[in-house]
Amino acid sequence: MNGRVAEANGRPEGRPSRQINVIIRNQEPPVLSSAVPEKEPVPVQKSVVQHTLYQEIEKELDNLVGLESIKEFVFEIYALLQIAHMRQDAGLACGGQVYHMVFKGNPGTGKTTVARIIAKLFQKMGVLSKGHLIEVERADLVGEYIGHTAQKTRDLVKKALGGILFIDEAYSLARGGEKDFGKEAIDTLVKAMEDHKNQFVLILAGYSDEIDYFLQTNPGLPSRFPIQVEFPDYSVDQLIQISELMAKERDYILMPQAIMRLRQHLLQEKNESEHAFSNARYVRNTIEKSIRNQAVRLLHLYSNTNPGKLELMTLRTEDFKLDNKGTF
Ligand SMILES: Nc1ncnc2c1ncn2[C@@H]1O[C@H](COP(=O)(O)OP(=O)(O)OP(=O)(O)O)[C@@H](O)[C@H]1O
Ligand SMILES: [Mg+2]
Repeated sequence: MNGRVAEANGRPEGRPSRQINVIIRNQEPPVLSSAVPEKEPVPVQKSVVQHTLYQEIEKELDNLVGLESIKEFVFEIYALLQIAHMRQDAGLACGGQVYHMVFKGNPGTGKTTVARIIAKLFQKMGVLSKGHLIEVERADLVGEYIGHTAQKTRDLVKKALGGILFIDEAYSLARGGEKDFGKEAIDTLVKAMEDHKNQFVLILAGYSDEIDYFLQTNPGLPSRFPIQVEFPDYSVDQLIQISELMAKERDYILMPQAIMRLRQHLLQEKNESEHAFSNARYVRNTIEKSIRNQAVRLLHLYSNTNPGKLELMTLRTEDFKLDNKGTF
């Protein structure tokens, strides 16, 4: 994608052929003269507006810890769309880009969150009319009798038109093999991608190896999903940053001892459960549980008085009652 941008920006700079270019362009005054008058005011105005739009997206991305390559990817999409607008204004070929994508990663690595941001970006940039996200899984698509699945899937696609259809654990659609209704869902989706070209974006999500297997089950699939995005597991440091962020969003602070306790626990959980470890989702559940524990602790401690603002905000070690099985 970067290549395209460079091509569009770099084209007029070819030094050795500059003279020839001038001659050729002079031979085609109508094409140039129709593009030139609009060139000055229109793109400048648009780029200011669009850039303001990206700042909103950027702000949302900035709230996410890590995910550097994904932030770059979102900017790449924005750049492509922005340049496509400019190319359209200049009368150049644009469009034809396929935006269906695959998100590979373990649970809780930010896939749904990023899909929502991308939906918003597509809406702001005029690719999608509504920019909503419909998140589904196998049970939402697959029915109980022949024909039921196709109907259910078509209904969901209809709901997703103008937005993103996000299929979590997409692999499970291929799990049952040829006779499974999941296959009917895949076939219906493939058809819908043709019938409603550019009217919705399909994102398939799941574990990396399972998604790879899934794409192989239907020869038409890999080429329909040209964009593949990897969501890496968070490091323990990143999980701690996410914990602090989640606590802050809820007007809580973590005591240093509580952070140490949590760090130790996350390290252990991450090492022991690996595939099943649900990254930021695990952290969110842990913070929310500790908030409930704190409420009970404070109520016992201050039965007749108000604990005061600071105490109401503070999560202490004893609020993190963590065992090694991820239960509380
Ligand atoms: N990088 C991050 N920074 C801050 N919060 C994050 C980050 N990634 C995820 N979260 C938060 O963690 C929770 C889970 O994220 P999300 O639902 O996007 O993950 P997911 O990959 O879709 O998970 P699953 O596979 O379980 O559906 C959300 O509350 C989200 O806001
Ligand atoms: Mg999700």
